[in-house]
Amino acid sequence: MKITVSLIKADVGGWPGHSRVHPKLIEKARESLEEAKNKGIIIDYYVFNAGDDLQLLMTHTKGVDNPEIHGLAWETFKKATEVAKELKLYGAGQDLLSEAFSGNVRGMGPGVAEMEFEERKSEPIIVFAADKTEPGAFNLPMFKIFADPFNTAGLIIDPTMHQGFKFHVMDVYEGKLIELNSPEEMYDILALIGQPGRYVIKYVYSKNPEIGIAAAISTERLNLIAGKYIGKDDPVAIVRAQHGLPALGEVLEPFTFPHMVSGAMRGSHHMPIMPVPLKYSQCTRFDGPPRLVALGFQLANGKLIGPADLFDDPAFDRARKIANEISDYMRRHGPFEPHRLSAEEMEYTTLPMVLKKLKDRWKKIGAEAKKAWAAGELTDTHD
Ligand code: F6R
Ligand code: MG
Ligand code: MG
Repeated sequence: MKITVSLIKADVGGWPGHSRVHPKLIEKARESLEEAKNKGIIIDYYVFNAGDDLQLLMTHTKGVDNPEIHGLAWETFKKATEVAKELKLYGAGQDLLSEAFSGNVRGMGPGVAEMEFEERKSEPIIVFAADKTEPGAFNLPMFKIFADPFNTAGLIIDPTMHQGFKFHVMDVYEGKLIELNSPEEMYDILALIGQPGRYVIKYVYSKNPEIGIAAAISTERLNLIAGKYIGKDDPVAIVRAQHGLPALGEVLEPFTFPHMVSGAMRGSHHMPIMPVPLKYSQCTRFDGPPRLVALGFQLANGKLIGPADLFDDPAFDRARKIANEISDYMRRHGPFEPHRLSAEEMEYTTLPMVLKKLKDRWKKIGAEAKKAWAAGELTDTHD
């Protein structure tokens, strides 16, 4: 049976500030998806939050980019926005960039990770959702899961995985996609995805056509969609596991290392990503540190058996502790790079304003100053 798993998310109002989703929004979204389930539009759903992002996980048989499913998500976000407006939640409706829905939420604000596959005899899936970071935040863990034998033992010892995986990498600035093979083109893959603000892993495929897609990551960049900063493009991902694919434990292993990501505080800072259970899915300290939740499900003819809150586990305590220590270390840099992102990567900056204000106060120094002095253009120098 071919099943589509769609994870569509948007920030339609924070409570309080940009920290998390109010329970009333989750309730409203559940109501909307329950109605769709009863009408047979979707098979099943699960609504949750990653920080201030409302997450709609849906299963159905309509394929990816389906107008009815995307329309359902759009309408659900609109209904939640009404509640957010009533409660005067923060940034109500902020990710719904367009007034009119035109069949597909891609490019309109919400983030989407979707995949269609033949449901196997037993089908474990893991959905990841992060807040206060960008889609490229998944580059490092996805590489480890599907290409690093020091992470994934199966790449070496499981005959069905030994041939490796195919990575589809997107250039989010130019909107183009390339397929690269691992391990054959591993160094080329790393050359690209080591720049996560631009090159983002969008899909991973098994080289076994019977398995097909293995992972899907959202790649919407809200700031580029809107042409100006509207909100963070907090990413989501879906990963299939086991039996020819990385084991559940191999999928989760990379998150024991809280790697550095961009997107904290005003979308303009590097901070470590912190794996958390749903109860801590809120961004508090310095609007972060960026948080990640992982929910596990078994699919049963499209029914979502779960969730298992996978980071609600002492095995990730140490990662959280390290993330807190790194946060302390990074915070002490205050407004300095590398805590603050480089000028091109910041969501907004006062730098042009400061440069304009100071433009006539720069003084020439060195050889340039001597030349200007000789020409009688200068009355005052620093040398
Ligand atoms: C939002 C985010 C936050 C905000 C910050 C300032 O996703 O990353 O760090 O950028 O809280 O928000 P405003 O400008 O709305 O006060
Ligand atoms: Mg927000
Ligand atoms: Mg968010």
